[in-house]
Amino acid sequence: MNQDLLHDPLINKGTAYSLEERDRFGLEGFLPPRVERIEEQTARVLAAVRAKSTPLEKYCYLAALQNENETLFFHTLIGNLAELVPIVYTPTVGQACLDWSRIYERPRGLYITPHQRGHICDVLRRWPHRNIGIIVVTDGGRILGLGDLGANGMGIPIGKLALYVACAGVNPARCLPVMLDVGTDNEAVRDDPLYLGLRQPRLARPAYDALVEEFVTAAQDVFPGVLVQFEDFANVNAFRLLARYRDSVCSFNDDIQGTGAMGLAGMYSALRITGGELADQRFLFFGAGEANVGIGTIVSAALERAGLPAAEALQRCWFIDSKGLVTSGRAELPEHKRPFAQDHAPLTGLLTAVEEIRPTFLIGASGQAAAFTEPVLAAMARLNERPVVFALSNPTSKAECTAEQAYRATQGRAIFAAGSPFAPVTWEGKTYVTGQGNNSYIFPGVGLAVLACGLQRVTDEMYFAAAQALAGQVTAEDLTSSCIFPPAARMREVAAEVAVAVAEVGYAQHLALAPRPRDLVAHVRASRYEGIYPPRYCLAQESPDGSMSSFGIVTA
Ligand code: NAI
Repeated sequence: MNQDLLHDPLINKGTAYSLEERDRFGLEGFLPPRVERIEEQTARVLAAVRAKSTPLEKYCYLAALQNENETLFFHTLIGNLAELVPIVYTPTVGQACLDWSRIYERPRGLYITPHQRGHICDVLRRWPHRNIGIIVVTDGGRILGLGDLGANGMGIPIGKLALYVACAGVNPARCLPVMLDVGTDNEAVRDDPLYLGLRQPRLARPAYDALVEEFVTAAQDVFPGVLVQFEDFANVNAFRLLARYRDSVCSFNDDIQGTGAMGLAGMYSALRITGGELADQRFLFFGAGEANVGIGTIVSAALERAGLPAAEALQRCWFIDSKGLVTSGRAELPEHKRPFAQDHAPLTGLLTAVEEIRPTFLIGASGQAAAFTEPVLAAMARLNERPVVFALSNPTSKAECTAEQAYRATQGRAIFAAGSPFAPVTWEGKTYVTGQGNNSYIFPGVGLAVLACGLQRVTDEMYFAAAQALAGQVTAEDLTSSCIFPPAARMREVAAEVAVAVAEVGYAQHLALAPRPRDLVAHVRASRYEGIYPPRYCLAQESPDGSMSSFGIVTA
């Protein structure tokens, strides 16, 4: 029994077990004699993390802690978001995925493979927790800007769920990371002798779609109402799966919809600095994949709301992909790009496109490092008093430009945001703070709203509300240093505000199962997990199927 108490990461308190608990549960002798408060444990964790010399070592230390004591892991994370989010999430999680087969120590989450066809339900049923509320699932097809990493992409669902808990206060027992291991087309990964995933090319359609269908159906059967977040799928699958499930299952695609809402929020905040109206802007998107098409879709809808006819709203959004400008004359344009195809002659080169289109916003989500060259940034500065530049690609090594490059090339006039964190830049005596334009400001709040109010679907209107809520969290003080996203330290506050806004829409659209609480704000906030130990444990009945821990938690 004491083994459970020390080795189940969801209930383990480590040195925080009281003398009475140690005595009652037979833990005497298994722990050093001193009883610690969680604050003391956290101080040790922080000292250990800070003593590590590389971000990846810090990541590994924290991953081991999460596997040992989740309460302490989250208590530490919640209290130190600005310092630790870049370790458990982008950029370090990118390195962790690249090295996954080397740093792997113990399982976390579920691995679903084509070999489980026909009995995925049974696999899900074996998960020890019944009350799963959020599944983050990837097939490893497009991990950050790093491409197809196969099963090594498992770090992404784990990292995203860590943010659900730390930022939104979702109970970790309600989170399930899932890797749909359908093989990988990345030969270097497949040939790595330490690679842990299936060593086969990616499953092709229709078998691929059938596997996803069985997984999504099984997830709904085993965990009714569960929110399924599709994460880091390659765009050949992402748009199709979003269309397939968005209206029938509580689900969303974070890279498309979450990024879209984040991007729109950043634009609203940038306009507070420039003083312009959304309806007067021209947007040049560099990269026409999930992230940028997600932003373009919500921005064009916002332009319509601002009074522009639909066709004109789309004409304000110009896209460049690996083949050049997205134009109507191009053969075999994928469906997700078609609404944005412009009647224009082909253009090659970003600089030419900037000079021709004269965008007020330049938004990079291409995975192409250094694509925003000095001449491109200088052209943006020539055309705009305050050019707005987003370099959203992750991890940091893939950003279209660095913060320093953006401020220097524009003489400090750029309003710059990036997908991964950048340190403040001082230029000619003024310090510029780069806002982190990342969907981590959106998805945790969406998930919290779904769980707190029993939302059955996630809708476009909810993303609008989320974008407005996020923009509303940017203070006048943030804007004075050109920062258009709240600092990471405020992510918890942001997630709560986003959750309330999303829940409001859920009630307005009659999509909430839970009756509307009298005080929605208080309800959402009170439903948050705080990362603290329950006052004491007591023995509970073992559940008949043996699936529950033999310990129950007394919280009163
Ligand atoms: P994707 O694979 O769907 O799209 C990539 C796009 O970039 C494609 O349209 C492709 O044609 C284009 N591209 C590639 N090479 C190019 C080149 N040389 N010139 C112009 N375009 C080029 O990928 P997705 O999901 O859109 O992600 C792209 C990047 O955005 C990744 O680095 C990802 O990490 C990042 N991202 C950032 C998010 C954030 O919250 N900051 C959220 C989602 C993605």
